[in-house]
Amino acid sequence: MEIIDRDDLLAWLRELQRVYAENRDWLTELDAAIGDADHGINMDRGFTAVAEDFEKSPPADMAGVLKSAAMVLIRTVGGASGPLYGTFFLRAAGACTGATKLGPDGVAALFDAGLRGVVERGRAEAGDKTMVDALLPAVAAMQRAASDDGDMRAVLAAGVAAAEEGMRRTGDMQARKGRASYLGERSIGHQDPGATSAFLMIRAAADTWNHG
Ligand SMILES: Nc1ncnc2c1ncn2[C@@H]1O[C@H](COP(=O)(O)OP(=O)(O)O)[C@@H](O)[C@H]1O
Ligand SMILES: [Mg+2]
Repeated sequence: MEIIDRDDLLAWLRELQRVYAENRDWLTELDAAIGDADHGINMDRGFTAVAEDFEKSPPADMAGVLKSAAMVLIRTVGGASGPLYGTFFLRAAGACTGATKLGPDGVAALFDAGLRGVVERGRAEAGDKTMVDALLPAVAAMQRAASDDGDMRAVLAAGVAAAEEGMRRTGDMQARKGRASYLGERSIGHQDPGATSAFLMIRAAADTWNHG
């Protein structure tokens, strides 16, 4: 599909419930190695609550969908990742205020706004071994693809590939933010859980929006 609308955002967030339930144990194992073994639990709980909230009161427009998700995540996900993903979706909502549809460039702008929120809130830089190490290259790749007149499929595929590479690279990094930073050099050799959940988030968007 060349544009996405409110229903596509809802479909993406509902898919995230399935994806984080399916990957709950993997994310939690990654967090067990360098954190406190709750990242999968946090993401599963948060996106289950988001899906339940949509059942009860489906938001009317694109910004409303993202804003509701943000509020539920901030309320239900503990730890570092709750406020960070909450901020991601709140800023993403801001990027589509008043919009009823987004093209490939609008999708890149949505992820860019979310990333900026995460960086402002968490102050992580590239190489600190956080979700930023998946989001930042993904957004850069999406923007590049969009400015090369890439269609939706090309923009999303570029984002997924860059997020996956960024996620894998966190294995060699030493953590400088969050709980994993307490381990110092011992954090090297383990893939970051938040970079992994960020990759899954972008891949779910591509999987959801590319079959139209
Ligand atoms: N300051 C930060 N900026 C960006 N991401 C961060 C920051 N601190 C932690 N994270 C991300 O949060 C993930 C851990 O999330 P989670 O386990 O849910 O929270 P907690 O660390 O509080 O248990 C990390 O893998 C990392 O990607
Ligand atoms: Mg944790």
